[in-house]
Amino acid sequence: MILLTGATGLVGTAVLQRLVTQRRAVRCLVRDPRGLGEHRVRVQIALGDLADPPSFRNAMRGVTTVVHLAASARDQPAGSIEELNGIATWRMVRAAEKAGVQRFVFLSGLGASPHHRTRLLRAKALAEDVVEASELETTILSASLIYAPHDRAQRVLSRLLLLSPVLPTVGRGRAEFQPVWAGDVADAVIASLDRDEPRQRHELAGPATLTARQLVDLRVRALGRRRRAVPVPEPVAAAGLQAAENLLKSKTPVSWDEAEMLTASMATPRGKAGMEALGVSPAAMADVLAPARPRA
Ligand SMILES: NC(=O)c1ccc[n+]([C@@H]2O[C@H](COP(=O)([O-])OP(=O)(O)OC[C@H]3O[C@@H](n4cnc5c(N)ncnc54)[C@H](OP(=O)(O)O)[C@@H]3O)[C@@H](O)[C@H]2O)c1
Repeated sequence: MILLTGATGLVGTAVLQRLVTQRRAVRCLVRDPRGLGEHRVRVQIALGDLADPPSFRNAMRGVTTVVHLAASARDQPAGSIEELNGIATWRMVRAAEKAGVQRFVFLSGLGASPHHRTRLLRAKALAEDVVEASELETTILSASLIYAPHDRAQRVLSRLLLLSPVLPTVGRGRAEFQPVWAGDVADAVIASLDRDEPRQRHELAGPATLTARQLVDLRVRALGRRRRAVPVPEPVAAAGLQAAENLLKSKTPVSWDEAEMLTASMATPRGKAGMEALGVSPAAMADVLAPARPRA
């Protein structure tokens, strides 16, 4: 039995699709099973929350592999970024050890370090340490920016373009990314499950290196639009987005913690080699986000 967390998310949806197609026994730890769509009748469901450790301890019964994809790039009412990504992973690893789980698969981000400028990648670094130090067989997948054609970033951008004649960007947009399609990441997760090595570590990056600015341009073009980018100095963007989050709480379209992710590079000098070592040839972002004809 595989315990999948984050099954309703960008990567989790694609991983679940593949696990169901392969007729593997899956239990999904979810906050709301409706997010599983049609798959909710094909899997076991464990209701749970990263901020509620007893809920995932119960979900571990009879599980051989945990694929831990659940995460949050913003604070939630029940837990901070540090709690949901760092401490929750520590608790999940401990619960897996106690339950006799064999392998723990963890999806982290390229560049995660205890000194990283973003709270998420600092928390991910601690989580990686916990996974690595555990007595389980472990797989750590370290991904660059993950995307899909209709992901949340694309939906937020689409709304912003309706409202604004220019495109505000955080700083000059020079950080570098190797965007990797969620479907390719899911293939890499599945491929890693079939490997026997007790300790695995793989980098998941797409075939091209793009600056944040190029990445946003590409997304804008894919929506069939054109906009002049207007760099907003980081302290101004931070103050504005933090004020909006204080006002709108979880309804804020983009939190500062999320926007800040575009200011720090997530790239590897080895490019797509990690994906190819898992037998996956990652698609180019420009091909996946089939561009529409420019409108305005
Ligand atoms: N997206 C990227 O660019 C990127 C890059 C590198 C690494 N990663 C990592 O890859 C993994 C998957 O990312 P993703 O883009 O698929 O994330 P996502 O689309 O934001 O999905 C997050 C998942 O986590 C679940 N979740 C959030 N808070 C939870 C909580 N308190 N309790 C239980 N479940 C909770 C969500 O469930 P609900 O449906 O209940 O909200 C959803 O299924 C994450 O670990 C992420 O950090 C992502």
